[in-house]
Amino acid sequence: MHTFDFHRGRRLRRTAVIRDLVRETIITRHDLIMPYFVVETADESFEKPIGAMPGQFQLGLGALSARVGRAVAKGLQAALLFGLPAKKDERASGAYAANGIVQQAVSRLKADYPDLCVVTDVCLCEYTSHGHCGMLSAAGEVQNDPTLDLLAATALSHAKAGADIVAPSDMMDGRVGAIRITLDENGFSHIPVMSYAVKYASSFYGPFREAAESAPAFGDRKSYQMDPANAREAMREAAADLAEGADMLMVKPALPYLDILHALRQSCDVPLAAYHVSGEYSMLKAAAQNGWIDEKRTVMESVTAIKRAGADLIITYFAEDILDYIRE
Ligand code: PBG
Repeated sequence: MHTFDFHRGRRLRRTAVIRDLVRETIITRHDLIMPYFVVETADESFEKPIGAMPGQFQLGLGALSARVGRAVAKGLQAALLFGLPAKKDERASGAYAANGIVQQAVSRLKADYPDLCVVTDVCLCEYTSHGHCGMLSAAGEVQNDPTLDLLAATALSHAKAGADIVAPSDMMDGRVGAIRITLDENGFSHIPVMSYAVKYASSFYGPFREAAESAPAFGDRKSYQMDPANAREAMREAAADLAEGADMLMVKPALPYLDILHALRQSCDVPLAAYHVSGEYSMLKAAAQNGWIDEKRTVMESVTAIKRAGADLIITYFAEDILDYIRE
């Protein structure tokens, strides 16, 4: 005789092996991109801890290569580079200089680790004296169209240095198209653009601005980065960047914006990246250092949630640690 029984979800949770068999989302090394901060200095072995991001460093070229080498040995496949130039100016000259710090770092890493996928952040804020992501008008407003040529020049200089993927993070309108045209006209039609299409004006970037020494000297980035309250606007940004030729789209930050990531996953078919940003890193680190949470487990839960929501790629400062965790 059959009687009604309730749903017995616990059957598939009974043993570790059964849980392994039915797990829907698994983090692998192919999911991860590790960000690095490289400093323009004569001291190759320069290595300065970033106070607000325990475990992360500003690195000279030699120290960068050594650190990346250890990560590659653990299985790292992709790195994202940010530069700290020796000098900043109003026109962000260091961003597109042929021998700028990111350009040097790209060629160094490609020479040392030819199989490493080197992604470059394309933005001006680390290179401008005022710390904004574009050119300023006399009134101090960030000017959109005059900035596009400089962004395109920056992306081109990265490609010439050997970058495998360029990732514009400035949030100027039209920059994906400007970069695509410039790359194509100069023989780099094979280089993909990973667009920070959906980038919010987030307080979670705080620690990064110490790391990259890129805090705006005045005002904020709200006239170009998105209002955290808006979800439909994210769909318009994504559509615009796809129309301009973006090969991959990014959502940033990650955990507070999983709804956006999930909605984008439903509405488009390009690979999606999520940036688990500096503030998300620092919060977990601080709580773990206080003994309030278990670092390994909260890190793995976080990146699993990001992947489950729809990310194909996760940019995270925990990438090197995760490579250790998933090998255990
Ligand atoms: C450059 C850029 C920023 C981040 C990535 N690219 C800073 C910002 O927009 O203020 C933030 C990354 C992080 O917080 O980890 N525009």
